[in-house]
Amino acid sequence: MSSWQRTHTCGELRDAHIGQAVTLNGWVNTFRAYPDQVFLDLRDRYGVTQVVVEADRPEIFKLAAETRGEWVLSITGRVRERMIGSEKKHNTKLATGAIEVLAEDLRVLNRCPTPPFEVFSVPQEGHTFGEPELANEDLRLQYRYLDLRRPTLQRTLAMRHRLNKVIRDSLDAQGFLELETPLLGRSTPEGARDYLVPSRVSLGSWYALPQSPQLYKQILMVAGYDKYFQIARCLRDEDLRADRQPEFTQLDLEMSFVEIDDVFRVIEQLAVDVFQRCLGVTIKTPLPRLKYAEAMLKYGSDKPDLRYGLEIVDVGDIALQTEFQAFRGTLEAGGAVRALNASGAADKFSRKQIDELAEIVKRSGGKGCAWVKVEAEKFAGGIEKFLTGNPLTPNPSPAEGRGGAIQQQLRERLNAKAGDLLLFVADKEDVVCQALGTLRTHLASVLKLYDPNALDYKIAWVLDFPSFIWDDEEKRWAANHHPFTAPMDEDLTKLESDPGSVKAKAYDLIINGYECGGGSIRIHNPEVQSRLFKVLGMSDELARSRFGFLLDALQFGAPPHGGIALGLDRWAMMLARTSNIRDVIAFPKNQKARDLMTGAPAAVDAKQLKELGL
Ligand code: AMO
Repeated sequence: MSSWQRTHTCGELRDAHIGQAVTLNGWVNTFRAYPDQVFLDLRDRYGVTQVVVEADRPEIFKLAAETRGEWVLSITGRVRERMIGSEKKHNTKLATGAIEVLAEDLRVLNRCPTPPFEVFSVPQEGHTFGEPELANEDLRLQYRYLDLRRPTLQRTLAMRHRLNKVIRDSLDAQGFLELETPLLGRSTPEGARDYLVPSRVSLGSWYALPQSPQLYKQILMVAGYDKYFQIARCLRDEDLRADRQPEFTQLDLEMSFVEIDDVFRVIEQLAVDVFQRCLGVTIKTPLPRLKYAEAMLKYGSDKPDLRYGLEIVDVGDIALQTEFQAFRGTLEAGGAVRALNASGAADKFSRKQIDELAEIVKRSGGKGCAWVKVEAEKFAGGIEKFLTGNPLTPNPSPAEGRGGAIQQQLRERLNAKAGDLLLFVADKEDVVCQALGTLRTHLASVLKLYDPNALDYKIAWVLDFPSFIWDDEEKRWAANHHPFTAPMDEDLTKLESDPGSVKAKAYDLIINGYECGGGSIRIHNPEVQSRLFKVLGMSDELARSRFGFLLDALQFGAPPHGGIALGLDRWAMMLARTSNIRDVIAFPKNQKARDLMTGAPAAVDAKQLKELGL
């Protein structure tokens, strides 16, 4: 070992080391220069150690006074207790806070210009060491190597390492083989847009980067590798969101001779292992199961956050008794009227803030949001004056008057009491779900119905999805998951006659409002697979030209099989408790799918294009 190389990390020294000679290597976190002493906090990914350089060593004192943030140093010295005079001066916020290193030698291993943003600040309460206000994200992505020095990112990436390790251990223990599938494959359109790669050897032909290893993992089942998994990079050219990257990582898993319950058991054991070993959190199994239709009705979403209640309630039958045209008209046209009770929120929202709620509804496609405040005796504000009885409907309770009866029914249905704010959306059913689902998450956040930093995880399965959704633009049925998903056995007879009512053997895994996994039992019978392609409007020829290799493989003794893919970036988001997917990826793309550090995507040489015949 060279004399400058570290004997310990910057997070390692404790009072047991007092008196020892040590060498530390690291980056200058902070520096304070006084006439007779320079304090340098030296940092690496293990922690921070305070170094003192004293004026009685002039050869290193001058150098120490010149050092600046993010310089790379080697310090050799002796560990001593932190004291001021004869008094102990331990820093309880630092793991190494009992000691400091009195420098005997200091070497500058590298210098650093003033960074474009501050990487660190002084230690804060509750953290091993502190972080400054974050700089603009684009700037941080451009200088990602500086950003990655932040302890939060370092902890998160260490957590991701642990996640991968636990997955490998858990699945190995459950008898799975880790197998790899190609990155350069065939374009099999369905779902998102492909990233295409031109072939130099076969000019005019293209590879596609995998959106997922879906077909390969099914073919591995045909090949007899009955328990497979892979931590697979997937690429999709789609519009980005806070929980979506063009390049992301899935845990792909496939099993043979299984039904839904078998897949669930494996993933539930995995979830138990991951949360226990990454966070020390115990997950109770079996996980709750939620039917898709129930999720849409109660939460307006197929990936509801179950950390809080705030359930959506259908009030169509009551709304039909009112004179309120916005309600009646919608219902008569086949729409729905549903409501949320923001309990105790009547005083928490000003008129202006209630108008903002209506804006949220409009942004999710609705026309607006009707409201009333609940008082002890009556409703007030908003649409209160419309909540009177329809003169055509016989008044069910003459003593209360028509309006009174309607208000009473709403009180009971919505479990409303004085101080509550009732919010109504009337529209086509899918719009109502979307709007109230969005409103529900917004309200839960502003009313603080959950603590985003708590180790509070509500994991559940969503199942009983419809197999097909109607694509109004293309005027055809489209696969709700992917076209290899098996329909429920009892629905096979309706495949052609009533596709809209066919349910799929598909399931999603949701955690705290995020879709963190999805999978299905697959079609293993080539006839069923070709019937399904037909429902999707694909002729035999088209299906053969796109998926011939799969149809062939299914002919050669395909076992019944099924599997799932977990979105590992989203799992890492859950473990790190962040809502920004870029916080859990070392080198993410920005919202425009650009890598701001390398400048990708970028122009290429004319020569490269020529070789590719482009
Ligand atoms: P699906 O498309 O549902 O299924 O993807 C599985 C899981 O991957 C995650 N995910 C993403 N994460 C980040 N950025 C993205 N752009 C992104 N897209 C998806 C989600 C999602 O639940 N082949 C099937 C799986 C199967 O049937 O086995 C598939 O890919 O967490």
